[in-house]
Amino acid sequence: TGYITLDIGYKNTGATKSAITFLDGEQGILKYRGYPIEQLAEKSSFIEVAYLLIYGQLPTTEQLNSFQSEINRHTLVHEDMKKFFDGFPSKSHPMGQLSSLIGALAAFNPESLEPGLSPEIVDLEIHKLIAKMSTIVSWIYKKSLGHPVNYPKNKFDYVTNFMYMTFSHPTEEYEVNPVVISAMNKLLILHADHEQNCSTSTVRIVGSSDANLYASISAGISALWGPLHGGANQAVIEMLEKIKADGGDTDKWINKAKDKNDPFRLMGFGHRVYKNFDPRAKIIKKACDDILENLGVNDEVLDIAKRLEEVALKDPYFVERKLYPNVDFYSGIIYRALGFPTDMFTVLFALGRLPGWIAQWKEMKENKEPIGRPRQIYTGATDRNYTDIQGR
Ligand code: CMC
Repeated sequence: TGYITLDIGYKNTGATKSAITFLDGEQGILKYRGYPIEQLAEKSSFIEVAYLLIYGQLPTTEQLNSFQSEINRHTLVHEDMKKFFDGFPSKSHPMGQLSSLIGALAAFNPESLEPGLSPEIVDLEIHKLIAKMSTIVSWIYKKSLGHPVNYPKNKFDYVTNFMYMTFSHPTEEYEVNPVVISAMNKLLILHADHEQNCSTSTVRIVGSSDANLYASISAGISALWGPLHGGANQAVIEMLEKIKADGGDTDKWINKAKDKNDPFRLMGFGHRVYKNFDPRAKIIKKACDDILENLGVNDEVLDIAKRLEEVALKDPYFVERKLYPNVDFYSGIIYRALGFPTDMFTVLFALGRLPGWIAQWKEMKENKEPIGRPRQIYTGATDRNYTDIQGR
């Protein structure tokens, strides 16, 4: 009631207090629960970071083992969930499938719909969701190929299990490659949380109506899909491929991005909060060089990406607007070196972001935040009298 502050796009409006992720956009600093992203990406594992984000502390060996084994208990997905795949057209986008399948999990786990969940049930849903997400993501990929799905092998850790289910093939022995597993851990860690971005705010606002965890995360997945958000990682590779097919003239494409009459934007560039550099992009660029070299992959689009960055960073348009490569600029080049097709990239972002979404949902619940309900300034017609259709 009373005075309404207008901030379209929430450019400068805090919607919550949070103790999960610290982000300083001017200085390019990102920390999860106080730990610098650089240290976590170098030393930690994705599952350890998931624990850190959700429970606030780095786990002891015992806590980590118990977290991993609780997750392992739930890696199987209800067999009836497979029937959904018969309904999706074979070329349907993996993100559409993922948001539907995660939303559907609520129907398979009715205990999650009870009001006032106990902390034990909340933990159970968290374990289930983390476990089933990786199985579902791998199945989406397998189904897109027309291949049989793989069932989880719980002797593996979370990331290895995911890569096994995704890439194991009935005709060949699956070999665990530590370079691949470590690359995947690093990428998932770098995506694991990013304070109040579009999808996370969506998860919090949907959850604030007391909608269940699966519904809230499914909404977050839908928000992530957009090319201005997580969908940018797919858009970047498509852009780089287009530039390559067009002869690799980076200046031409930089000029297109600067042209206000041209809708083209340099995908993977710019960020609402980072105005100096995106620390995740720095780590990923370096990882990209290392991983491609380790795997013996030579990808021409990496050279195009580097040339684009070099030209953009010297160009007054990008300098004045403080536009730098973001997390999505180089990540896709690694994903495809690991064997993922382009339309799976945003799904991998979602897999990585899941612990962050869960941590933010849990924090919102624990803080007993009220339902999210922004106000507006009305700009429509004032008084009008209804006229019958013949009289219009
Ligand atoms: N290429 C060309 N111009 C750009 C770009 C770009 N990628 N990004 C911003 N600008 C310009 C924009 O046109 C505007 O210019 P002017 O002031 O002359 O009107 C100025 O820079 C400020 O941009 P904005 O759109 O007002 O900034 P925003 O904070 O609302 O948007 C953004 C941030 C990330 C949506 C935007 O930079 C963008 O569209 N980038 C490309 C998509 C992308 O890479 N998204 C991934 C973001 S990071 C990971 C994630 O969130 O998932």
